[in-house]
Formats: sequence, structure tokens, C-alpha cells
Amino acid sequence: MPIVRKNNLASIDQLCDKVRQTNSALRREVVDAMTTNETLFFRDVAPFHALRNSILPPLLERRKLLRKLSFWSAAASSGQEAYSLAMMLLEMGLKDWTIDILGTDLSSQMVERARSAKYMQIEVNRGLPAPYLVKYFTRQGLDWAIKDDVRRMVRFEQFDLRQNMKAMGPFDVVFCRNVLIYFDVATKKKILGEIFGTLHRGGHLILGAAETTLNLDDRFTRTPVGDAIFYLVP
Ligand SMILES: C[S@@+](CC[C@H](N)C(=O)[O-])C[C@H]1O[C@@H](n2cnc3c(N)ncnc32)[C@H](O)[C@@H]1O
Repeated sequence: MPIVRKNNLASIDQLCDKVRQTNSALRREVVDAMTTNETLFFRDVAPFHALRNSILPPLLERRKLLRKLSFWSAAASSGQEAYSLAMMLLEMGLKDWTIDILGTDLSSQMVERARSAKYMQIEVNRGLPAPYLVKYFTRQGLDWAIKDDVRRMVRFEQFDLRQNMKAMGPFDVVFCRNVLIYFDVATKKKILGEIFGTLHRGGHLILGAAETTLNLDDRFTRTPVGDAIFYLVP
């Protein structure tokens, strides 16, 4: 309704008609208004602990000559998941490795926010350990800006998960959390099938706590690690 009012339209129906006539700015505005962008730094904590303590050590051993890793935060929202991962990798002493973290989201507004790497006080109060704030952020007026050594590990692009993923990857770890819940079964199957193809053999998918590959794509091996569940590409 705020978009209806802002554009001097009479109703949601009229807005739909207008969007169908390919007004792309208006279409973007509607997508941004319809998506739920809730996120926070180190959301759920358990997957990050499991990644650091159990999943990454054998991967680092396998890659010790190449010293290269790639990650995808596939519904990145305003970027906290991707930046949490980057900070965690720096804490693990991987500064000299070639690390590529791609963050993507359907919402171009969220992609812009993520690229800006600036967060409000209320956002850094959620999930971010205080020593990380001191070490990886600088104060900018009322906001906090992520430092360049973290920023340069992460890049953000607009991407709709319903698109073909042939050009994506290969990745070692894909985060696709708290977004599958919004799709019907056929779309979930399509997305999981495509993600499977973007992962290296031995790579891992991480879903949200309420999500699973069970009965959707049985090629993944469900692997509980502590309080987290990873989906392995065998
Ligand atoms: C609830 S947030 C989850 C953010 C983060 N993954 C987390 O768990 O904290 C869901 C995100 O999915 C994005 N999204 C919704 N539909 C999408 C689609 N078809 N393709 C890509 N991203 C989508 C939304 O814009 C939103 O930023």
C-alpha cells in the first residue's frame, strides 16, 4: 500500500497492472517491499562454530598448496552473513589465502546496503562479539563501517535463486539460509538441484534451521556437526 499511495494509484490491482507493463523501477520497488530481509551477524552461531572447528580444518589441509577457498552467501540480505564469515576466516589466520566470498540477493536495495558495508548501532549490537567490533569496524558518525581488509574478501551481486546457476561457482561452502521456506516444493527442488551443481565434490551446503534437503534432493548427505547440520556433496 505505501507504494500504491506513493505512485498515486487507486489499488493493489492497479499496481499489479502497472508492474506487468514492465516498469522496471516500480518492479524493483515491489520486490524490495515484499522480501523479508531479517538477518544478523553470526546468525544461529552453531553453523559458524561447526564450520570453524570441524568443516574447515580438513578442507584447509586439502588446499594447503593451492591456498584458495570460495564461498557463496546465496540470500545475503544486508550482508551480515558474508561479513561474519570473512571475519571468522581472518580470525582463523587465513589472511594470506585467496578467499572469495560472493554474496547475492534478489533485492537490489539489499545488495546496495551490503556493498556499503555500513551498519547502525542496533545492527552491530545483534550477534557481533564486542572484540570483532573493535577489531574490524570503524566509527562513521552514528554508524559503523567495516574495515577494508574484511571488505576486500567479499563482493555482492544481484541474483534471483530461481535463475539458472550454470555460471556460479564452483564453491567450497554455500550458505542458503532462511530463504527456501518462502518457496513451493517444485521451486525448492529446482534451487537445491542447481546449488548442488555449484558445489565442489566434498563441498557443503548450509541451510536455515527450519530448512532441509530431505525429500527434495537426496544427492546431498545430511551431516550433523555439533548443533548444526551440513549437507555434503559426496
Ligand atoms: C530472511 S533473509 C535471510 C538472510 C540470511 N541468509 C540469513 O539467514 O540471515 C531472506 C533473503 O532472501 C532474499 N530472497 C528472497 N527471494 C529470493 C530469491 N528468489 N532469490 C534470491 N534471494 C531471495 C530476500 O531478499 C532476503 O534478503
